Amino acid sequence: MLPTIARTGETIVMIDQRKLPGVELYVSCHTVAEVARAIKTMVIRGAPAIGVAAAYGLALGVRKSRVSGTQKLAAEFYKICELMAATRPTAVNLFWAIDRMKQTFAAGAAAGESVDQIKDRMDAEAGRIHDEDVESCRAIGRHGGALVPDGARILTHCNAGALATAGYGTALGVIRGAVEQGKQVTVLADETRPFLQGARLTAWELVRDGIDTTVITDNMAGALMRQGLVDFVVVGADRIAANGDVANKIGTYTVAVLAREHGIPFYVAAPASTIDLATPDGSRIPIEERNAREVTHVGPTRLAPEGAHVRNPAFDVTPNALVAGIITERGVFRAPYVETLPSAVHGDVSVSR
Ligand code: MRU
Repeated sequence: MLPTIARTGETIVMIDQRKLPGVELYVSCHTVAEVARAIKTMVIRGAPAIGVAAAYGLALGVRKSRVSGTQKLAAEFYKICELMAATRPTAVNLFWAIDRMKQTFAAGAAAGESVDQIKDRMDAEAGRIHDEDVESCRAIGRHGGALVPDGARILTHCNAGALATAGYGTALGVIRGAVEQGKQVTVLADETRPFLQGARLTAWELVRDGIDTTVITDNMAGALMRQGLVDFVVVGADRIAANGDVANKIGTYTVAVLAREHGIPFYVAAPASTIDLATPDGSRIPIEERNAREVTHVGPTRLAPEGAHVRNPAFDVTPNALVAGIITERGVFRAPYVETLPSAVHGDVSVSR
């Protein structure tokens, strides 16, 4: 499995996703500030991976603290939580992981634990968040793989793979699950302008796995669908609102509309940590606007003229009506999402899906 992120002692190591596929470089973070910077600058990216990195970063920050006394440690901890929360706004897994680490700290403090005991507790929780994410992706792969028809030509957008999670992937987990179930599949990977997660990362992962992969530019998807060359679409998510609206990489909405027009099922694969029941619908999801340079340049080369205005929203929102189902570790949830998604989060499988 791909080593997206690992902890060795007091160092968090990540593969630098900005450099792939050309260079396989590992970045070592020794402080919480370095981890926050790695998230912000997209050394590590993808919603679940960001959550895992944040948890490790917070545990590292607490571990490295030199203060004595739980109260002083708490003050420092809440400060680094703010630092972490300011890295990227859209993927809710970041805030989910920060909350979980806050609860862990609070439980230790409430139990009267020493500073050292709290540090151990935080380390253990970050490790659990990492392990649970891998398990969730495997379960998503099993549930989603069963939905994929044998022989399917699958289109995916962005990278929701091992690199975007602690391992195995969500949308790519579904593809891997289908393959593990003995199905023959081929994959169309949208290149995913402007950061090129599809061309660089998805294609890299799938080729390494020996899965037949074709890279297309984003504007080719419609023509290929019209020619009957796509059977199934699966993407990841950065935040799923309570009503099933899905924020994911910019361009996902276009793919969903095209899939609807051509009668192709459009599925979203994500762990429960991506579902945000506190956000009622997609209009309330904050959308990150990134640096204009990602649009005007490819590498060092300027494409657009100076003086042109540039927009660079990193995500869009796909309305729930276009989503055939949301594949989670607890199964496949369908509309009406406002009724079914709470059981995806809380694990109450008695609620009808
Ligand atoms: O800006 P990124 O690369 O962090 O965006 C990633 C995506 O949009 C993914 O599709 C999403 O996080 C799901 S990853 C399992």
